Parts: sequence; structure tokens; C-alpha cells
Amino acid sequence: MKILYAASEAQPFASSGGLADVAGSLPKALVKAGHECSVVMPYYKNTIKPEQQKDFKFLKNFNVPVGWRTQYCGVFTYESPEGVIYYFIDNEYYFKRDFGVYGYYDDAERFAFFSRAVLEMLWHIDYTPDIINSNDWQCALIPVYYRIYYKYNHNLRNVRNVFTIHNIAYQGQYGLNLLEEILSIPRHMANIVEYDRDVNFMKGAIETADKVTTVSPTYATEILDPWFAHGLDRILRSKQYKTCGFLNGIDTDMYNPSTDKDLAANFRVNSKAGKKTCKTALLGEAGLPDGDEPVIGMITRLVEHKGLDLVKSVFDRIIGLGYKAVILGSGDSVYENFFNEMKYRYPENVAFFCGFIPQLAKKIYAGSDMFLMPSKTEPCGLAQMISLRYGTVPIVRATGGLKDSIIDCGDSGGTGFTFLNYDAEDMFSAVHRAYDAYGDRKTWNALVSRAMKADFSWSVSAKLYIGLYEELMSWN
Ligand code: GLC
Repeated sequence: MKILYAASEAQPFASSGGLADVAGSLPKALVKAGHECSVVMPYYKNTIKPEQQKDFKFLKNFNVPVGWRTQYCGVFTYESPEGVIYYFIDNEYYFKRDFGVYGYYDDAERFAFFSRAVLEMLWHIDYTPDIINSNDWQCALIPVYYRIYYKYNHNLRNVRNVFTIHNIAYQGQYGLNLLEEILSIPRHMANIVEYDRDVNFMKGAIETADKVTTVSPTYATEILDPWFAHGLDRILRSKQYKTCGFLNGIDTDMYNPSTDKDLAANFRVNSKAGKKTCKTALLGEAGLPDGDEPVIGMITRLVEHKGLDLVKSVFDRIIGLGYKAVILGSGDSVYENFFNEMKYRYPENVAFFCGFIPQLAKKIYAGSDMFLMPSKTEPCGLAQMISLRYGTVPIVRATGGLKDSIIDCGDSGGTGFTFLNYDAEDMFSAVHRAYDAYGDRKTWNALVSRAMKADFSWSVSAKLYIGLYEELMSWN
């Protein structure tokens, strides 16, 4: 099968979150399973490292319609050592920006251009995929444009579209005045993207894609409920027949405690001594005294839906139990200020690093004993799986992918501590249970081993995607 995976970010080139991890690792797994998989993404000239760019090869250039205009589009290509082919859509006006990959006044136009360019590219480079798997709102116009402009093109008529929702909170909602002039959608087809008197990119994809997937089975059910769906539950309920959820995997080569060069020492399930060395090194780097107390790690964007209000309301009591905490993240100032204050209040127990530093993240995964992730909503979540791999026991709220990946210790084969209600007391009691369990070294050691043995490689989920793609191809 020939699969084209379209994403607005992908490891190792540009990343602002979990989407980049998935776009970096699922295609590798598809290639490993014997399929041809390409990734197409914008060519962010100021974000992708120059040493990576020097290996890109220019392939073609052409013009792409944007409303009443056309815009330049170049295509560069690169083949990774694992055999994934990358296509980079080049237009400096849209993608050579200074401050990250999103958040500009013209994001709607930038990603409408990108989506149209992906489909134009197929004709220009003479490439006909069997499947296009588009991801999140930035690529949501791909199935929409396919339906409007490319479906009846002789070469492309058998292409099938899958659309994957990584987070329903970001939908690409804009005023209807963008419809013709920016998005090139004829007025008589406005119904495809119109939702609640706005243009909604994600709604357009849910409407037009052959299948809609999301990143965990639980989240696929949750988003039928208004509490989770940010308004899209109505359209999703009507498209339930084509919607499903597959749990993400992680890149087990990139996150491997037995080979990871960023760690003070390596370790594996049968020889865990290195984990203690990692803990001592982490405490040193964090400016905290070494000791045997449990270390709780958090690596997160500091935004409300990550459950930080719960953490705020019982943080003093968590430290009071005897925990040390190492937190890495940035985001809303109310949470940044809070963790800064905690660092000053508890200089011997709390370290806070504001920002995102990938090497430090791995040291926290490896050097902590527990990992706290009390999200209000979590489509999949990757950090809890990475923690397991590094022998760090997750404490999570049972929602979305957290529910699908972490079994509570009270059940057989448990790998972590879970709580159900979005309630600070419930979270505190899970943190308390973890503290008590840590005190019993033998049981704790067995728990860490179980955590490290949990398999979240792509081997299972890649098969589910392949099954879905095959089903779509059998329609031809
Ligand atoms: C988004 C979701 C996260 C998920 C990731 C990859 O960032 O918020 O839960 O793990 O996408 O699918």
C-alpha cells in the first residue's frame, strides 16, 4: 500500500507536541510492516535545523490556487534511513516565520494553502497514494479539497481519505467571510465546512473523510459527549459509523533507557541500578539534596486541560507527605507563577524548569519514581507511556488514552495509580497510595518491572491502521 501521511509537524524536523511524535513514529512502523509511507509537511525554514535542510533535495515547483490568487509552491524531498520519504512544502511567505510553527494572524490561509498544495503536488510529482491520512485541523481541508476539486480527477479517483483527530479542542474555526477569498470553497458548497455559523476546518474533514480516527478508543467515545467535544459532538454522533479510536504507540528506539545517551546511566528491566544513578543526577541538576524520598516528575504544557488546578490545590499536601517534585513545562502565567512560588517555598523539595528541553525531559522520565498526569481531558497522552518505559510509575486520571494505557495497581497486572473523578481529593488519594506503595520496596520493585515491560511500541496499533486502510482499499 502507498500511504501519504499529512501533518503540520513531524519529528525530527518540527515539533510543538504529541502530533509530531506520532507523525515521526507511525510512518516508520508502516514502512517496517512492508508498506510505502511518505510524510508531507510544511517546510519551516526557520525551525528545521540547517544541518537537516542540507540533505533535502529540490524536486519541483508550481503554483497553488489560494482564493482568487495563486501562490508559489516548491517541493523538497528527503528519505530517512528507515525508508520514510518526506515531502516538504516550500513557500517562504507562509512558512519562514520567526516564532514557532503556529499562532499567526493568517494561520487559516497558511494551512489552507498547505492542504491544497499537498493535493496539487500529487499531480506534479506523478505520485498516486492509495490512502491519504491527514491529521488535525491544519490538514483538515485535505479531504475537503479532495471532495471538491480532485475526486473526479482520473488519476486520483481511487484515493481514500482518513482523518485523525489528535485534539478536538483545536478545530480551525474562522469567520464565513474567508470561504471564497481565502479558502477557495464555492459558496454553494459552504455546507461542507459550515458549523454554528462559522467555517470549521475539522467539521469539514469529519464530513468528507472516508474514515475518522482518533488517538485512543476511550477518546473516540468521549468526543460524542458535549463535555469533551468543544461543540463537535453533534456532527460526530451523526458520523459514528465511520469513526474509531486507535491507541498511539511511542518510538521505542528514541525512548530506550538501555541505550539513551542523554542519561547519566543506562538501565533495563533486569538490571535497574542505573535508575538510581539517574535519580541522583537529576536531583543534582535540579539543585535538590540527594536522598531516598520519592521524586514525582511532571512534564507538561502548563494549560488548564492538563489538570493543573488539581495540582495547585493540593500541592502543599503532596510535599507534606515527603515527596520531592521536578516539573518541566511552560504555558499560562498563572501556572508558571505558581510553580515558581513553590520552588521558593520548598527549595529542598521542588525544582521548576520553565520551557521545554528534550534532554532534560528524558532525565526526568528516567530519574523520577512517579510521573503525575491528572489531565482533565487527554486524547492519548504519550508521557505516561514514556514514563513506563523508563520505570517511572504513572499517576493519572482515568480519561482518554490515560485510561486505555494505565492499569491501576489495585487490579491484576497494574502498572500505575489512577483516579476517576476530576477532583483534587481523589487525585491526592492516588498520590498518597503511590507514596505508601513506594515504602514497600519489594512490591515497588515488582511494580517498576511491570511498568518497564508494558509494550507501547507501534507494533499493535500500526496493524490497526493497516487494517483500516485495507478495508478502505477493498471499496475500490
Ligand atoms: C495531542 C493530544 C495528546 C496526544 C497527541 C498525539 O497532543 O493532546 O493526548 O497524545 O496529540 O496524538
